[in-house]
Amino acid sequence: MTKRLKKLQKSLADHKLDALLVRTHESDNQNVMYLSGFNGSSAVLLITKKDALIVTDARYYSRAQSEATDFTLVKMLRGKRQTDAINDALRTAGIGKAERVGFEAALTSVTTADSWKEELRAKLVPTVHIVERFRQYKDKHEVACLRHACKVTSKVYNEVAALLEPGMTEKSVAFELDMRLREHGASDNSFDSIVASGPNSAIPHHATSERKLKAGEPVIMDFGGIFEDGYCSDITRTAFVPGKKPDPKMREIYEVVLTANKLARKALKPGMLNREYDKVARDHIVKSGYGEYFTHGLGHSLGLVAHDPYDYEHDAFDIGSVITDEPGIYIEGFGGVRIEDDLVLTKDGVERLTTAPYWKF
Ligand code: GLY
Ligand code: MN
Ligand code: MN
Repeated sequence: MTKRLKKLQKSLADHKLDALLVRTHESDNQNVMYLSGFNGSSAVLLITKKDALIVTDARYYSRAQSEATDFTLVKMLRGKRQTDAINDALRTAGIGKAERVGFEAALTSVTTADSWKEELRAKLVPTVHIVERFRQYKDKHEVACLRHACKVTSKVYNEVAALLEPGMTEKSVAFELDMRLREHGASDNSFDSIVASGPNSAIPHHATSERKLKAGEPVIMDFGGIFEDGYCSDITRTAFVPGKKPDPKMREIYEVVLTANKLARKALKPGMLNREYDKVARDHIVKSGYGEYFTHGLGHSLGLVAHDPYDYEHDAFDIGSVITDEPGIYIEGFGGVRIEDDLVLTKDGVERLTTAPYWKF
């Protein structure tokens, strides 16, 4: 945490800022957690070039002290407004009306920004993507956390794939995934598990239902958990319900998607833009005659949330980028296949973090 904080403090001048305010908004607490280690639901960080303060209320005093060890606690007293406590922090840090203090435009509601502008003793400046840009490139510890998350999640897939049988509902499959993620250490799901069977597999983000699995059908399982230090996994495998041979066209689609997945993994490298990465998988699917059925992007950044922030348009992938590789083909009324792996770019090349096996026909 200390390193991240120092890096941010150093960068303030580049953004023409004297300080930055970073706040949680209920479960949107990833930037606060990333910089301070504080994992509660309500806090505001004030980071100046030399100081770091954390403003929180009585529910979180002791956690702020034990989790955010680089930060000085500023207590928000009961009955006082949060802006009063932030003003206390600004005073303590020697920031006044003349100083430029950034706030995160994407994470601050218009209502909050308006009240801050009115009540805080500082010159408030909207900022975009400052902490998020650091979060794009994971360090060794973060990669180790993600590796662990993906390994456990792969194990959960293996356990649940072995349970599939005709008559099980999509919801009962999802329950097995969720329960086993927790059993193996997840604090929560990184998103609602998607279990899509038979014709439902043609809906990329199907809402898991009471539909019963039938022999030979595809079952898309897209799920992930939040593990050590808040790092997420995100895996998709398409399995087939035992008791009947899958349709030969389903098998053909599976092979096309799997080849697209592998080609993209081989091509991923530092300096590559997201659109170039996407094109590798898409070209193969188009060439195979299924281009119109690959209806979403190839991947996204993964980290403290399943869809971690990344400036895909401008920032090329680099060492530490953690990107999903999830081509799919979805044919309405028939079914679909998606295969999703989580990849990390290291100095030795691309590592596939999701080790769960692909389907063997
Ligand atoms: N389940 C969301 C995703 O794979 O992007
Ligand atoms: Mn997914
Ligand atoms: Mn994904």
